[in-house]
Amino acid sequence: MKKIAVLTSGGDAPGMNCAIRSVVRTALCLGLQVYGVMRGFRGLYEDDFVDLNSRSVSGIINKGGTILRTIRFPEFKNLAVQEKCFENLKEKKVDALVIIGGDGSSRGAYSFYKNFRFPVCVIPASIDNDIYGTDFTIGFDTAVNTALEAIDRIRDTATSHERIFVIEVMGREHGFLAIEVAIAAGAEIVLIPERTFTIEQVIKKLEKDRQLGKVSSLVIVAEGAGKAHEIAAQINERMPGAEARYSVLGYIQRGGVPTYQTRCLATMFGNHAVKCLIDGLDCFMVGVQREKLCPVRLEEVVSCSKEIPEEKLKIIEEMAT
Ligand code: ADP
Ligand code: F6P
Repeated sequence: MKKIAVLTSGGDAPGMNCAIRSVVRTALCLGLQVYGVMRGFRGLYEDDFVDLNSRSVSGIINKGGTILRTIRFPEFKNLAVQEKCFENLKEKKVDALVIIGGDGSSRGAYSFYKNFRFPVCVIPASIDNDIYGTDFTIGFDTAVNTALEAIDRIRDTATSHERIFVIEVMGREHGFLAIEVAIAAGAEIVLIPERTFTIEQVIKKLEKDRQLGKVSSLVIVAEGAGKAHEIAAQINERMPGAEARYSVLGYIQRGGVPTYQTRCLATMFGNHAVKCLIDGLDCFMVGVQREKLCPVRLEEVVSCSKEIPEEKLKIIEEMAT
């Protein structure tokens, strides 16, 4: 193996730059040449490669976002588009491709490998932490802490005004971010896409909180489970005497200075990814399981789903008494 390429794909996440830096520095240290590909799979298609050296990745370990930019490129599902990508990689004599991205990017990587048997490695990066085969994805810890800082501020005004606050966090398809935020923020209720609920159940719980003497309550809702403004409006309509307000945290969860955990995870993933490729692995994701780095076959990653931690949902209920 002499030459690799690295790209960032799908929704960005804090720590992607740390991972890019680690891939480049490890590869150069082990005698490989490294290309960056701009804007994910679209850059592969448009032959938008940049030479990367050690100085290219200086000063980015503490920067959110990705110097390689990222986009969503659904056209990559098209075989002819993938074929052009394959030709561009071969023309540059690239031996393997590192894809830093989420569950969609993992599906894209697997599809590309199946069609062309081109060695690929996925480094899991997503604030949703919804990728099978790894306990943590790059960016998740930073996003949780960003959300937590905002919610602690909201808690101050919720208590002062004795209000109910409905706070919408990211997570279009999964509630892993919402669950961790709810536990750490001490929220009374968490609403996630994987569990159905009725507004009557929400109000029943809030009324019970009031009977327990709670002067304010926090409801965390993942965006895929509902809209905070609608839930707050329904509480105001149906709960006499209650004052409900809402906040949508939105894209602040996708940026910011990566935390210690995010930086170290990204650095270890990037280093491990290059070493596994050199060892001959060709269709895998680098994951961490019980604090151990481990390659996971992409076939398994894309065909399995991460389970919702039921015990954490129970703990949220038990803490809200
Ligand atoms: P994320 O990686 O953050 O989940 P996306 O779901 O947008 O973000 O996936 C990133 C990119 O991966 C997509 O824009 C598309 O280019 C590619 N992709 C996603 N799913 C597939 C698939 N089933 N086959 C081929 N490419 C895919
Ligand atoms: O996949 C990460 C994520 O931030 C989701 O939590 C969110 O629903 C989605 O990306 C937003 O996608 P976009 O950046 O394309 O609006």
